[in-house]
Amino acid sequence: INGSCKTAESRNISTKLDENNKDGVIFWGSQSGTAETFATRLARDCRSRFGLEMLVADLSDYDPQSIGDIPTSKFAIFIVSTYGEGDPSDNAAQFVSWLASNGSISLSNLRYAAFGLGNSKYQFYNRIVDVVTQSMDTLGATMMMPVGKADDAQGATVDHFIAWKNALFKHFVEILGYGERPYVYEPAWKIIDDPSLDIIDLHTGDPVEGRSDRLTKNVATSSIQRLPIKSIHRLLSTESRNFIHVEIDIGDYPEMKYRTGDHLAVWPSNPQSEVDRLLKILNLEGSRQTPLLISAVEPSTQTKIPNPVSWETLFRSYLEICAPVSRETLISLSRFADCPSVRAGLEKLGADVQLYQKFCASRHINFGRVLEHFTTESNTWSKLPQSFLLESLAALAPRYYSISSSSIVSPKRLSITVAIDAVSIGNLTTGGLNTSYISAICTRGLSQSHDDESDFTLVDQGTKFYAQVRASKFRLPVLAKHPIIMVCAGSGIAPFRGFIAERTRLAQIGREVGKMMLFFGCRNEDDYLYREEFETIRQENPYTLEIILAYSRSNTGPKRYVQDEVAERKDELARLMTEHGGYLYICGSASMARDVTSRIGECVRDTLHWKRDKLDSWLAHTRRTHRWQEDVWG
Ligand code: 2AM
Repeated sequence: INGSCKTAESRNISTKLDENNKDGVIFWGSQSGTAETFATRLARDCRSRFGLEMLVADLSDYDPQSIGDIPTSKFAIFIVSTYGEGDPSDNAAQFVSWLASNGSISLSNLRYAAFGLGNSKYQFYNRIVDVVTQSMDTLGATMMMPVGKADDAQGATVDHFIAWKNALFKHFVEILGYGERPYVYEPAWKIIDDPSLDIIDLHTGDPVEGRSDRLTKNVATSSIQRLPIKSIHRLLSTESRNFIHVEIDIGDYPEMKYRTGDHLAVWPSNPQSEVDRLLKILNLEGSRQTPLLISAVEPSTQTKIPNPVSWETLFRSYLEICAPVSRETLISLSRFADCPSVRAGLEKLGADVQLYQKFCASRHINFGRVLEHFTTESNTWSKLPQSFLLESLAALAPRYYSISSSSIVSPKRLSITVAIDAVSIGNLTTGGLNTSYISAICTRGLSQSHDDESDFTLVDQGTKFYAQVRASKFRLPVLAKHPIIMVCAGSGIAPFRGFIAERTRLAQIGREVGKMMLFFGCRNEDDYLYREEFETIRQENPYTLEIILAYSRSNTGPKRYVQDEVAERKDELARLMTEHGGYLYICGSASMARDVTSRIGECVRDTLHWKRDKLDSWLAHTRRTHRWQEDVWG
């Protein structure tokens, strides 16, 4: 059911809790699915440990003001993420703006607890959970226990969540007097083998449009298509990392349009070796093609997997089977060990952070590998419920790339620029699934041999993969005469390649084009991506394009970061920004963007002799008027 189809009544959370005999609600505000997964797990634990029935609710599915109707006998939990420049997830946006702007309503009945997900590398760390809790407190709500916060920069989101959950349960026992029950596993999913189903009806890996739309912030501008890779070439290959340039043909898909600065969402698929490993260890090899029907035990839960589907497709295309296994999952898994020593081993591994870290550092611990590691003659995982797989493995999500071509210069063929750490080729721990996947496509395309190449099913040029254009907010000024300042490092160059190509073309057709300053952070002289292309444009347009390179590991000179180069040019930069209608763009890692932002602030303040508050209001104004834009990742 989608929110817009709901009746007015069922959008009232209090009514919904009454109708379903629930003790409370766990609201989630999630973009990538982590907060949603936490909410689901928490509800499961509330039931199994305390017999509490909690409704797991998408914040956008209910009228915000109805939280005021939740009686004191029940309570609400909020698990909300913060993104980018302190933004809420899409599904929490309406709720957050309602809360922040509603001064009159009383929430004096509401008892709540809250947990935020964020990343301290970003400027507005966990801003949303702060806005939510402060606004609710102002409106008279009662916070049951201190707010929990996860910091992804420390790679400890799950650990922070577990610690907060334990504190919540302690509160249940010690303050609310709830009794803890002995653990009983209750499957969340019904998985039925149905060989009578026609194989033709099975999903074969097609992504699920509705779900991906809800989970991603950018607006889809087309349906998901299987797009052919037209060409691939290596931009740079060093011992420590590789960059590749991938061109994708969209000529045969007239409805697929993009604009310069947009993103491409790419759906990965898991390596066949990992799929086979899991099938083997679960004794499912013989039934890999058997049609399955999957449904939620709890009718109000949406099924995250398309149905019907085979085990093989499920593992290859719909579940994150290559992701590391959390400590929490290890502890849950321990309950299904056949053998007491394995159970004890898994419990210890899940409970001891240092042991867990050591274990992870020495091997890839995805789900299949963990099961394999703990398989012995007396421990064959015969008691492992199939539902547990679906509960423990997240739904496979698309990966995002900034498009590195210009839609004006190249409307029918778009490109992406992909960074691959050398160690990640064929390796599942460090590189991330999609870079491994794309690198496998590309390395085969480049006829380069790698041991793990055969791991990947789709490998040749001309290979198609599921992708979709997503509109971003990263946009060139409407009038090309405005100067632009672009600051990036590494593969953050991608959208700027498109920007530069577009403005160069506009200049060629006689349009007035403002100055382009590109600050580009590279490790050293060899790390300068698209060197030839940029140098040619620079030579042909010496008055328009200026490229300032910052080498952090130069073979010859001192270590420089882009922000050092920015500071060096502060007078010019401040003038371009404040007197000549300049637009500033930052693309790359969040820590780079944060450092660059603070350095530019200092430069403008020093040059113009501004006080802090004048600078702050100028910064807010430039962002609001889109003259300061960022395309940043964690
Ligand atoms: P490094 O040599 O210290 O890793 C990314 O490819 C480039 O951005 C590298 O030159 C890298 O430098 C640099 N970089 C890393 N962190 C940064 C930061 N906080 N600000 C600016 N540049 C950074």
